[in-house]
Amino acid sequence: MADGKTSSAVSSDKSVATKATYLKDYRAPDFLIDSTQLDFDLGRNISRVSSVLSVRKNPVSDSADASLVLNGEDLNLISIDIDGRSLADTDYCLDGSTLQLSNLPDAFELCIVTQIDPAKNLKLEGLYLSDGMYCTQCEAEGFRRITYYLDRPDVMSVFTTKITADASRYPVLLSNGNEVGRGRLTDGRHWVEWHDPFKKPAYLFALVAGDLELVEDSFTTQSGRKVALRIYVEEKDVDKCGHAIQSLQAAMTWDEKVYGREYDLDLYMIVAVDFFNMGAMENKGLNIFNTSCVLAHPSTQSDIAFQRVEGVVAHEYFHNWSGNRVTCRDWFQLSLKEGFTVFRDACFSADMNSATVKRIEDVSLLRSAQFAEDSGPMSHPIRPESYIEISNFYTLTIYEKGAEVIRMMHQLLGAETFRLGSDLYFDRHDGQAVTCEDFVCAMEDASGIDLTQFRLWYAKSGTPNLEVADSWDKSNGIYTLTINQSCRSMPGSGESEPFFIPLRVALLSDQGLEHFSIVGLVGSRDKNKETNKEMSTEAVLELCERNQTWQFSGLKSKPVPSLLRGFSAPVKLNFDYSLTDLLLLLREDTDGFARWDASQRYAMKLIEGHVSGRQLIDSSAGKAAISELGMVLEQLLQSGFDNGVWNHDYDAALIAEILRLPGYSYVIEQFDPVDITALHAAIELLSQAVAKQLKDVLLATYQRLQKQLSALGAYRPQAEDIALRSLKNICLSYLMRVADSQVATLAYQQFTDANNMTDQSAALSALVNCQSSVAELMAMKSLNAFYQQWSHESLVVNQWLTIQACSEKSGALSRVKELMNSEAYDNTNPNKVRALIGGYCARNLSQFHSNDGSGYELLADEVIRLNPLNPQLASRLLAPLTQWRRFVVPQKTLMQNALLKISHSENLSADVYEVVLKSLNT
Ligand code: BES
Ligand code: ZN
Repeated sequence: MADGKTSSAVSSDKSVATKATYLKDYRAPDFLIDSTQLDFDLGRNISRVSSVLSVRKNPVSDSADASLVLNGEDLNLISIDIDGRSLADTDYCLDGSTLQLSNLPDAFELCIVTQIDPAKNLKLEGLYLSDGMYCTQCEAEGFRRITYYLDRPDVMSVFTTKITADASRYPVLLSNGNEVGRGRLTDGRHWVEWHDPFKKPAYLFALVAGDLELVEDSFTTQSGRKVALRIYVEEKDVDKCGHAIQSLQAAMTWDEKVYGREYDLDLYMIVAVDFFNMGAMENKGLNIFNTSCVLAHPSTQSDIAFQRVEGVVAHEYFHNWSGNRVTCRDWFQLSLKEGFTVFRDACFSADMNSATVKRIEDVSLLRSAQFAEDSGPMSHPIRPESYIEISNFYTLTIYEKGAEVIRMMHQLLGAETFRLGSDLYFDRHDGQAVTCEDFVCAMEDASGIDLTQFRLWYAKSGTPNLEVADSWDKSNGIYTLTINQSCRSMPGSGESEPFFIPLRVALLSDQGLEHFSIVGLVGSRDKNKETNKEMSTEAVLELCERNQTWQFSGLKSKPVPSLLRGFSAPVKLNFDYSLTDLLLLLREDTDGFARWDASQRYAMKLIEGHVSGRQLIDSSAGKAAISELGMVLEQLLQSGFDNGVWNHDYDAALIAEILRLPGYSYVIEQFDPVDITALHAAIELLSQAVAKQLKDVLLATYQRLQKQLSALGAYRPQAEDIALRSLKNICLSYLMRVADSQVATLAYQQFTDANNMTDQSAALSALVNCQSSVAELMAMKSLNAFYQQWSHESLVVNQWLTIQACSEKSGALSRVKELMNSEAYDNTNPNKVRALIGGYCARNLSQFHSNDGSGYELLADEVIRLNPLNPQLASRLLAPLTQWRRFVVPQKTLMQNALLKISHSENLSADVYEVVLKSLNT
């Protein structure tokens, strides 16, 4: 008997925390677990977990007499039996993170009983309580906080789970797979047993017990099987599930059509929980969702939330194949499931909404946050080589850059051949735990295309940089593009081979797209490869060398190149566009993404010109440039209307994005060093100048759209309506910069009249950010009214917190501090922390970086407070500080000091330790 032996958490032990895990050390497991039977007896402070594992030696393992090393954290070990024989204390070895058993037979049955304390679990990994309901989160390494196990994704097992709990408080008892039995006990408790026929790694295990309502629908698969779809939520949220159900049905249909993939169980469950570190989790047959990613109702959620729900529901559903049926061998392969699934959900969302705007949103995130990550201390390849804490590697690089790498393969192979590749991948590896390399091999085998050079994308970190130059030979009518690629290597990784980069290009004149043919490729390994006698209006240049030159013929005059259309590769591209070139692209390009990109480049040129000491925006040249931009924007806004009604042949959502100036995070990414004060001044001047110039047309557009939308009547979360609201509300936010009482009244009117959260919150945020003194009073009044109206809706309160945290007016910090102590806040709920602290530190950059360092102090203190409670959340909040080296003083030293302060605090978790260590040392 080993009663009462408690293993301490690894994460609170600094000496253990420093240990890195390396991909090169990967070895197949010495043991396999064919079946796992779990028996949970749920109690708030003592939950008893009995597991029966059928274990056998792995035939492919290289060590014959290896001992079995099970993972376990924060567990209270009660007993261990092998084949019915109970072990004495001397028969095993227990330390803070492992349970080691030696001298084992080739196959045996292992029974382990442990006790855990769900109520104390604020890390939200393993079994914990969310608002009184039991739930689990096991990815990546949470299962080891439930019982001793081989907690690694290449150990796949068939799970049977019996749950016993008080029947009145926990009427709903759920786990993976199908219900196979239930019963009542005489003491008021009841039990339900579940069986999942598909073998899976422990990270996909899930359990839920609570008092939940059920919203049910169904889906019939293409082969005619009927699947029950169930969403479990708190009673007050049953009216907010319709959109998630519809999104799920749409995703199921889409995956059948686009990937030929059907759902494989008779039941698909989603449970909404309010305490969750991430967005959602793809546990087999039993997804667990953050309430923010499943609940959607017009009066409480905005269009953005509706689209987020649609995307996340689809993402987790798509994992059933890309992640669950075919899973990862080890966590270095995380992008295998996440990058691929993000690519899949992005294509789905593009099909459901404005494809161009979906692309713009994804690229914006990539170019601001992922590029920053990839040039900072946490930079890593999409297949990392080492980590200290795996939770720190659920990054934008793994997800977003990972998705871009899949997208490039899709571009390279073409949709049909890519489908052959994905079919081969799923068929070949069904039921297996595999590697990124297996995915690339399937694509290669299905297409016959050699992806040797392409593989560098998996191995190397950093964003490649393309320098593009052109020339025009008037006498021959030949246009030449010369492209040089480079990639700043991380220290120690040396000069690397060039990447394979697909670059979509077109050539434009005043008349729009030009036809051309590619006549020659100078200095290529294969001179004829790119020669294309056919005239076309677009080409994909395949860069594979450090320097390459292409020649184009068939042109009457020097064209303006449209480069990196659709953002065909995750690279930075430099080309010396003139302002006039950019306006041409903005007006005439047929690629919506390229048009938007031209508008961003235009704004960046003005901002750069201003902060580089030339005060461009104020100068007469700057004024002329803004006025020309204004005329094009005005034209875009005018031409969308036919008799005052928006014509949906024009993508209103795209025009809204074109109007939106580059965000702070993007602008900051373009500078090294970053002088935030100067950037702030330039951004302010520019947006005010544009607002002033366009005031009349913005107002007219606003009023027309307002009228058209009210004529539509009830709110619909449809793409067309979303586009109109988006354009209308961007007009409103611009108008606020003019800051007169007329526009303040307009916003107040919208706030009071709104019949949906999109309009209500847009109006509130416009008022909060308006500099006019009239607006000040209205903002106060509206903030109070909003809270009164929605204080019972946790997710709406989060929006209210964020709007205030993101206020551009001075005083935001003291308001944040006030809110931290208010009843609206709960510092153990990640959604609240992200809404308030995350809002201020990651989305209110001009204030967060204020010269006195008060924003950094707030963040450091919060990270120190959260470190022992929820290390994952603490580590994620830290991200803005990792960029300290790129800032000028005083920000630079103040941020460094904040990091030092964190590093000196006691008992750093592995999560926070890794980020702080790397930030200070690299
Ligand atoms: N598997 C992840 C969720 C996860 C990651 C849980 C890390 C625990 C630790 C899930 O599939 C996911 O990627 N969710 C995203 C949303 C998605 C739409 C990109 C998330 O939670 O943010
Ligand atoms: Zn995922």
